[in-house]
Amino acid sequence: MHDFIYDKEGRLCCADVELEKVAAEVGTPFYCYSLGTLKRHIQAFEEPLEGIEHQTCFAMKANSNLAILAFMAKKGLGADVVSGGELYRALKAGIPASKIVYSGVGKTTAEIDMAIGEGIMMFNIESEQELEVIDERAGALGKKAPISIRVNPDVDPQTHPYISTGMKDNKFGIDIEASTRQYLRARQMKNIEIVGIDCHIGSQLTDISPFIDAVDRLRALISTLRAAGMNFRYLDLGGGLGITYSTEHPPHPREYGAAIIEAVKGLDLKLIFEPGRVIVGNAGILVTRVLYRKETPNKTFIIVDAGMSELIRPALYHAFHDIKPLSLKHGPTEKADVVGPICESSDFLAKDRDLPVLSRGDLIAVMSAGAYGFTMASNYNSRPKPPEVLVDGSRYSVVIRRQSYEDLVSGESIPEARG
Ligand code: LLP
Repeated sequence: MHDFIYDKEGRLCCADVELEKVAAEVGTPFYCYSLGTLKRHIQAFEEPLEGIEHQTCFAMKANSNLAILAFMAKKGLGADVVSGGELYRALKAGIPASKIVYSGVGKTTAEIDMAIGEGIMMFNIESEQELEVIDERAGALGKKAPISIRVNPDVDPQTHPYISTGMKDNKFGIDIEASTRQYLRARQMKNIEIVGIDCHIGSQLTDISPFIDAVDRLRALISTLRAAGMNFRYLDLGGGLGITYSTEHPPHPREYGAAIIEAVKGLDLKLIFEPGRVIVGNAGILVTRVLYRKETPNKTFIIVDAGMSELIRPALYHAFHDIKPLSLKHGPTEKADVVGPICESSDFLAKDRDLPVLSRGDLIAVMSAGAYGFTMASNYNSRPKPPEVLVDGSRYSVVIRRQSYEDLVSGESIPEARG
């Protein structure tokens, strides 16, 4: 359920805010999020887990603006970070370091130092060398680094290959067969404290069974480690629960929670979750304006003022995002491609889509754009990044302003010409 609904006059609203009005005030394109939807999604995820000791760490790669992160902090959520920049944002938004887990295969020395210094909950270790470096850096800083090993359980999440992460061929995690040896090594390291075990198998999963297969494989590993005398507190199950973009029927968080609780019975570990998409995906949209219609012998193109620089998912994964006009149209429909202004043929938001007949000036919403939308936006073609608007009931705030041309060149310099 989300808050982007047509009112009686057929105008698309976000909660009680009419989106055409926002477009008139902030210009296009812009991202718009509903705080009410976010609240409901957090509740839906948390409720089934109420009876079990856990900490949800929002995967902020899905959406990392400070306003949304501050809301997560208020709701008691932590963060899953994958860079120094994300750690900086999480702390700035008020998420305590003790609720932050740090994943990612390429943590730099500076990032490791920063995370150790801040006192994060744990590093999710992705390779043997990373473990050695973290041990060394913790020693240099006179601290103990809390770690879990991200185990690659080799289960097929049955999702797009670019967002599948828990199979043998993926760069992520440490092979489940090799992880016992790594845990034994970690135990010998003076500056490492083993606090958990972690896995994340992929994103946009629409079936529960891969999650459960992963837990079953980890259960066997946990027994082995315990038999070797190792004690730890956390079982981090990553994120990955899918959402409906079109006709998908992902499990409801209720079913997911219940299945996980059943699967972890008897393990006696505090669960860590790293959901991203399921919390924010359907809490946000991208609003864009039709610049031109272009009819070629083969196709009709609707050229809009947002493209792959604002939302790269269609170009990168052929992802489907529903398109809705801001003013409901009952007339005829036509098959068209919705494309952006970028000089790339992959710059499309929708292909061969049945849409109401759109004209220059019309406004449309690209739905389900709250996750991996703005965070993956770029300045390609020197396009300023769009603003982000947060709606709370009948009020809205611009939480990130539109970039200016000055922003685009800030930090650049031209060296004095020699000779
Ligand atoms: N934890 C880890 C370690 C991850 O790598 C990810 C996502 C998550 C949690 C959150 O997964 P979620 O709950 O959002 O599925 N850009 C792609 C998605 C990439 C996901 C990468 N990792 C997309 O737009 O579909």
